[in-house]
Amino acid sequence: MTSSSAPEAPVTAAALARAPQPRGRFITFEGIDGAGKSSQIAAVVALLRASGVAVDQTREPGGTALGERLRELLLHAPMHLETEAMLMFAARREHLAARIEPALASGRWVVCDRFSDATFAYQVGGRGLDRAKFDALERWVHPGLQPDLTLVFDLDPAVAAARVASTGVDPDRFEREQRDFFVRVREAYLERARLAPQRICVIDADRAPERISVDIERIVRERFFS
Ligand code: TYD
Repeated sequence: MTSSSAPEAPVTAAALARAPQPRGRFITFEGIDGAGKSSQIAAVVALLRASGVAVDQTREPGGTALGERLRELLLHAPMHLETEAMLMFAARREHLAARIEPALASGRWVVCDRFSDATFAYQVGGRGLDRAKFDALERWVHPGLQPDLTLVFDLDPAVAAARVASTGVDPDRFEREQRDFFVRVREAYLERARLAPQRICVIDADRAPERISVDIERIVRERFFS
């Protein structure tokens, strides 16, 4: 005989921790080298934290111990274009599995300096990687996942190159590329933005940082807090 009046299990902290969390949001920053995204990333992270959001800030290539080792190779070791594209996605696979997906699933937001739009812009646009190969890697590594918001910092490559030069830091393999490479990268970002206008906002980066911050804060508030 079975009893139909089994006592209800008490709600435990462990059960609450297992309860489904609202998924976190995924925000990415993109643009050619020297477009000025770094300080704006810090401002967005500060804005979100001030709004009570738990945020993880990270970057690509990188974001994990393995990803940072791949970053060293990617930024400094000469390699075949397809090796470069696959290593970008290998680092991304690790990053998604170890950090991005667990954070989003637990309700934390993730703000990431570059993601797959950078592979589209640099490897497809800049270097001429076959687009079908990019599509295949993207479908393999993150099927069904795209950022909730991507901010593309758009700037004339001549202006961006002058900014990079003024830092006095030794340029990496990408920063050493010629102007026409960055013209193609910029075009590819703009094309990607035309393909996903809901997700990707193009920011005019040829303005004072304070004016750019105001725009970004408005976009973030409208998108997530209105
Ligand atoms: P970034 O961290 O923005 O450079 P920095 O630390 O110098 O500001 O990005 C590193 C470089 O990697 C940048 O030149 C763009 C390049 N990159 C690609 O070519 N493809 C990619 O998929 C990613 C994520 C980055």
